[in-house]
Amino acid sequence: MENEIKKKVMLSGIQPSGDLHLGNYLGAVKNWGARAEEFDCYYFMADLHTLTVRQNPAELRRRTLEQLAQYIACGLDPEKNTLFVQSHVHEHAELGWILNCYTMFGELSRMTQFKDKSAKNADNINGGLFTYPALMAADILLYQADFVPVGEDQRQHCELTRDVAIRFNNIYGDVFKVPEPYIPKAGARVMGLGNPTSKMSKSDPNGCVFLMEKPEDIARKFKRAVTDSDTENCVRFDRENKPGVANLMNIYAAVTGKTFEEIEKEFDGCGYGVFKPAVGEAVIETLRPIREEASRLLADKAYLQKVYSDGAEKASYIARKTLRKVYKKVGLVEKPF
Ligand code: TYM
Repeated sequence: MENEIKKKVMLSGIQPSGDLHLGNYLGAVKNWGARAEEFDCYYFMADLHTLTVRQNPAELRRRTLEQLAQYIACGLDPEKNTLFVQSHVHEHAELGWILNCYTMFGELSRMTQFKDKSAKNADNINGGLFTYPALMAADILLYQADFVPVGEDQRQHCELTRDVAIRFNNIYGDVFKVPEPYIPKAGARVMGLGNPTSKMSKSDPNGCVFLMEKPEDIARKFKRAVTDSDTENCVRFDRENKPGVANLMNIYAAVTGKTFEEIEKEFDGCGYGVFKPAVGEAVIETLRPIREEASRLLADKAYLQKVYSDGAEKASYIARKTLRKVYKKVGLVEKPF
């Protein structure tokens, strides 16, 4: 165990508040895989975070398990990565409370995700929605993470985590590792297929491609993807004037590994009628093995249960150590048992 701790730590999570989509995959999960040799990796289902918005309990349970199957299907080997459910490691909620007391009202008020979500859930702007970034900081700092692989939209929360860690360390000495966000070049911000000026999200199901979606539905969504109002009909990267085409190029680049230049050459003179289905096809082929493997894994509930039980045990070991140190530093009397 001591050897593992010496490796740099990578950690991330996704809320099982909706089915995983292409944005989650390209912005986050895709970059988690294949890092396990280099890093000590922790990935979790951020189920506590989902409660900031009302959830259907049965659906939440289903999606949490499905998300675990999808993590594994995306290449996260449970033997090499610690995969767990956030609520199974109670230290998250406990450190979350402590860090609430070291996170400023003004800082929380500036979070764009809070502003967006409170606009969307005007009848349920609860305390959890507001203090959510303190829980996210706890998720990260408990494991002394060095790197946090996320999409662009989580950068602000990662910056806040750094600020909270530095503030705490300034008072109590070196308690927390100050983590860095790790944001991919291609895929960090996948936009909606129906509206390329807002990020792909489950709240717009027509513009959102889900990992478990049938190939024919994915193909249809790409065929209908909004391109541009210009008449150029030419595949050229210009984020400002051609955001729809830029988004499709970004997706294509992320799934094929090609550069924008190579893509422009490949589709030179082809027009959107050829380009859009080609992007759809590339996405379908990328997602096909993931969908098939996830479906296979989902049929084996006992295996999934073993994975998340082992994961919680490993995660708890590290989380407990950090929390104990924090409790001591802030002056809480040590538990006698
Ligand atoms: P969440 O659940 O909204 O999203 C999960 C991950 O997917 C990325 N993502 C995207 N990337 C590119 N394009 C998109 N359209 C897109 N939509 C989502 C997000 O950037 C994220 O990496 N607060 C986090 C969950 C969390 C967490 C953590 C992450 C809780 N604790 C600790 C890292 C570390 C969230 O709401 O992500």
